[in-house]
Amino acid sequence: MTQHFDLLIRNGTIVDGTGAARYEGDVAVCGERVSRIGELSDCTATREIDAKGLIVAPGFIDVHTHDDRMLLAEGDMVPKVSQGVTTVVAGNCGISLAPMPVPVSRPVLPPLDLLDASGEWYCYRSFAEYLAALGETPAAVNAAAYVGHTTLRAIVMDDLDRPASAAEVARMQEMVAEAMEAGAIGVSTGLAYPPARAATTEEVIEVCRPMVPHDGLHATHMRDEGEATMASLDETFAIGRALGVQTLISHHKLAGAAAHGQSVATLRVIADEMIRQKVSLDCYPYTASSTILTLEHAESSGRTLITWSRKRPEFSGRDLMDVMSELGCSMAEAVAQLQPAGAVYFRMHEDDVSRILSFDPTMIGSDGLPHDEFPHPRLWGTFPRVLGHYSRDRGLFTLETAVHKMTGLTAAEIGFVDRGVLRAGAFADITLFDAGLIRDQATFEEPTRRAEGIGAVLVNGVSVWEGDAPTGARPGRVLHRQRSPMQAPGANTGSRAAVSTAG
Ligand code: ZN
Ligand code: CU
Repeated sequence: MTQHFDLLIRNGTIVDGTGAARYEGDVAVCGERVSRIGELSDCTATREIDAKGLIVAPGFIDVHTHDDRMLLAEGDMVPKVSQGVTTVVAGNCGISLAPMPVPVSRPVLPPLDLLDASGEWYCYRSFAEYLAALGETPAAVNAAAYVGHTTLRAIVMDDLDRPASAAEVARMQEMVAEAMEAGAIGVSTGLAYPPARAATTEEVIEVCRPMVPHDGLHATHMRDEGEATMASLDETFAIGRALGVQTLISHHKLAGAAAHGQSVATLRVIADEMIRQKVSLDCYPYTASSTILTLEHAESSGRTLITWSRKRPEFSGRDLMDVMSELGCSMAEAVAQLQPAGAVYFRMHEDDVSRILSFDPTMIGSDGLPHDEFPHPRLWGTFPRVLGHYSRDRGLFTLETAVHKMTGLTAAEIGFVDRGVLRAGAFADITLFDAGLIRDQATFEEPTRRAEGIGAVLVNGVSVWEGDAPTGARPGRVLHRQRSPMQAPGANTGSRAAVSTAG
């Protein structure tokens, strides 16, 4: 019997996001969901896409973003949608745009200025207000968000260079409870950043405690990602253990020459800990990092590029060495003249990046900074770079594995039910791409060049990207952390089981 659908994607090669081998087939969509997959040549549809020669995959999930403001301010989300991303997770590294129940202090405290240096966007008094704004003026992509510990510290503490008092912890707990009730997926911490460095392990545990009944997730930019990474892992695991919650190690890296090679040991320790508690991790596919400009980071970096500067915007995109010679001053003086500012640091070793990316449980997250004038190319290139450079060209893992790391694995780890996989009944978040052509084109010299090889992108059954341009549609939803029976802790992905037996 002939069936009629809203949309038929014909003749594609389906990579379904579970890690399973590709197969040929047609994908039928009705409304916001996939209705059938298979040989559907006898069926008809209101709209058809010929996907011959293309991969049909679940839309990519960017598990680590700082898109809190871009979702509202530039809802077409071109840097993300142009890469095939259909869902973003915001509020990372301890920095969230909400809540801000008091007027934000100006100038905006680094690293909160990564989201908005003007302070105007720190206007959502509660987390519920922020999520309501996202619901009322949706973006092109789906979004979920953490509440950030550093944001909460900035609200309640007059002096950030000490641990929070019992009363301050209690106020932060109230805001965490409010955020979790509103639909936050958990709490993020950024213990490496000056405003959170003085927080003790105990403070973090107590601030996170109200998320426990909500099965919240603790995502952490760890206290140290250099020589003391092992100690940071211990602290991270201790927090997860004390609360019995899932822990996500953000942008796992080994920064600074003294730490290079340590990923052999860190991945062994992480795999081993996964047997005892729920641990996840993500990574971006570059040997350079990017955050606010600090002298400490610049001193340990092989090369430093300025991504923005409030006081000296003319130096955006310039090498710090050039700035020093032009100003005829020391690194310390140049940094002081540029601050507040952002920078790219070349501090990682390719072997560590490749090893971490290849680790089965590693998810892909861009960590892109959408408001930098001269951003790290990860903002525009992360997903095509993993598919093109790391999977196809370097053969680090199969295309099916690469897609799994940015779709099915991520949806299972974060708790996005009926997303991240292509099967009947799942939401129609779908990305079409050319496996032979796909590649990142953003570079440190030209950081906003769009990737090549992405075809159509659908979010909740609606086309958001066609013919190299956004369609203007904004079908994105606010996503919450849910657990389907299949995604309950312990009944996780194949890769997790493999790690456990190998441990
Ligand atoms: Zn971070
Ligand atoms: Cu980050």
